[in-house]
Amino acid sequence: MVLVGGMGTRLRPLTLSTPKQMLPVGSRPMIEHVVEHLARHGVQEVVLALGFRPDAFTAAYPDGRCNGVRLRYAVEPRPLDTAGAVAFAAAEAGVDRTVVACNGDVLTDMDLSELIDFHRRQGAAATIHLTPVDDPSRYGVVSTDDEGRVMAFIEKPSIEAAPTNLINAGTYVLEPEVLAAIPRGRPVSIERETFPALAAQGRLYALASAAAWIDAGTPASYLAANLRHATDGPAGGVDTTASVTSSVIAAGVTIGPGAVVERSVLMLGADIGRGALVRDSLVGPGARIGDRARLDGLSVVGAGVEVPAGEELVGVRLPAS
Ligand code: GTP
Repeated sequence: MVLVGGMGTRLRPLTLSTPKQMLPVGSRPMIEHVVEHLARHGVQEVVLALGFRPDAFTAAYPDGRCNGVRLRYAVEPRPLDTAGAVAFAAAEAGVDRTVVACNGDVLTDMDLSELIDFHRRQGAAATIHLTPVDDPSRYGVVSTDDEGRVMAFIEKPSIEAAPTNLINAGTYVLEPEVLAAIPRGRPVSIERETFPALAAQGRLYALASAAAWIDAGTPASYLAANLRHATDGPAGGVDTTASVTSSVIAAGVTIGPGAVVERSVLMLGADIGRGALVRDSLVGPGARIGDRARLDGLSVVGAGVEVPAGEELVGVRLPAS
């Protein structure tokens, strides 16, 4: 089960027109990277837990297939939060076996097969993938005993108070009894409600790995995820006097004479004016950056937005949400 129903508020305004997991990472929507990783570990069927703007997914995969994987859709009538979404999707899809659930905005090459084997060996009710981070204070930190049994969940500890630098990495193995115990008809958070209850019973396990991992849910991390697929110019639509370095340029983009694009993402049909600068920024589909305008410092420009000529935006979101 892949959770793709969130509103993606941290990536606004891009997520006002496109749900987060349908935003591009490199040349493909984020969800395709997630499904491809699952497919590499033998997953043949994925249930998408949909909520916000479900049509974007059903329209993109009308035959219900993605990377050779069969897609099924479970659309929530209202947001049920992470655990509520998994329980709803399982019921909708008639799933009554062990499931893998993952956040649709986590891009990783973690060894899913190893996580499932570990889960079975320990006889766990649920198992969480953990990843190390430099600064755990923004995340849910998880400490375990020698066998991998979860001892504590600490939400957003100070750096000094964090017992480890291992955080919940957003991929889970769940037994049917865990799904069955999730209350119905209201939002339920897997981290705040389901996992602490299981940990208290000693039935929650976790396994850390040092595999590549990125949660692409913020402008900075979404840009970083894209820059792994970056290329240098020139490309079609780029004026020969423009300079493009370490950026992701979608189809139909035009870049005018003398423009400079560095470490940025320009989505479908974006138009960069003559002499403009776009650095460390995200430009939505069909947006138009006027001549000599400057975008810098993680600016985010929404779909179809026009930035006037000569405008200077540093760390600005347009529209401001
Ligand atoms: P922010 O609003 O920026 O925090 O983003 P988000 O709404 O995606 O929330 P968050 O990143 O915490 O969500 C983690 C994962 O769960 C993402 O893949 C979301 O799409 C998904 N998710 C969050 N809430 C729901 C929900 O109510 N229903 C469903 N189906 N998925 C959800």
